[in-house]
Amino acid sequence: MRSRAALAAVVLGVFAVGAAHAEVDPQLCFACHGPNGNSANPAVPSLAGQPAQFITTQLIMFREKRRTDPLMSPIAAPLTNPEISALGKFFAGQQHAAPAKKPAENVLAAGRKLAEDYNCVVCHGAALKGQQHIPRLAGQQVEYLRTQLRGFMAGTRFDMDGNMTSAAQRLKPADVDLLAEYISGLE
Ligand code: HEC
Ligand code: HEC
Repeated sequence: MRSRAALAAVVLGVFAVGAAHAEVDPQLCFACHGPNGNSANPAVPSLAGQPAQFITTQLIMFREKRRTDPLMSPIAAPLTNPEISALGKFFAGQQHAAPAKKPAENVLAAGRKLAEDYNCVVCHGAALKGQQHIPRLAGQQVEYLRTQLRGFMAGTRFDMDGNMTSAAQRLKPADVDLLAEYISGLE
């Protein structure tokens, strides 16, 4: 990944142009989130195929400092509502790349059972592809999934309506590892 300072220069340049044209070039996002929003970095989430409403909500949460991250917060800070809305539409329209690695049969069976027992499928959808403000999980980066689940369990990842924080409270540490491995391998 490029240095913070180099990235900041890119960001400032793109936003200067963006302000004049009322849109942000999504290429800026590819630097961290991968080509068309398909991340190859286990710690950085993919955006391709996320529901538009989820993307816009999260960008607003970062901009309003409800959710914070040293890399993502400065990117979201200057975004206007029309720019956020255009970015949501763009990434929702991108094809989500199939994961490189398929889970083993035993992981598939045990992971599926956990996702049903814990009602993940009730909110995130039968195929865990998300809906409205609820994120797509299928094929998300594994380390990112683990970090977020642990954050919800600990109450350190902001949660707009509290639903995800309460869903995470019953999880055991071993469940988090298995769920992340299972979910990250789904198409
Ligand atoms: C310098 C690297 C970097 C750049 C550039 C960047 N992001 Fe991010 N973004 C991140 C990281 C890291 C996270 C995960 C933060 C966390 O762990 O909470 C993130 C998280 C997000 C999320 C939340 C995703 C989720 O699944 O919860 C959205 C939405 C997002 N970024 C959109 C964008 C958009 C749109 C752009 C371009 C305007 C962009 N990002 C540019 C690093 C970056
Ligand atoms: C009652 C509904 C509900 C249930 C049940 C639920 N979730 Fe969520 N989940 C949400 C919502 C809503 C969000 C978005 C929270 C926010 O950022 O405000 C979310 C966010 C997440 C995220 C963050 C993803 C990202 O890209 O940032 C992960 C990971 C996640 N859920 C995994 C799970 C797993 C695994 C289960 C089952 C153990 C589960 N969820 C059960 C509603 C739910």
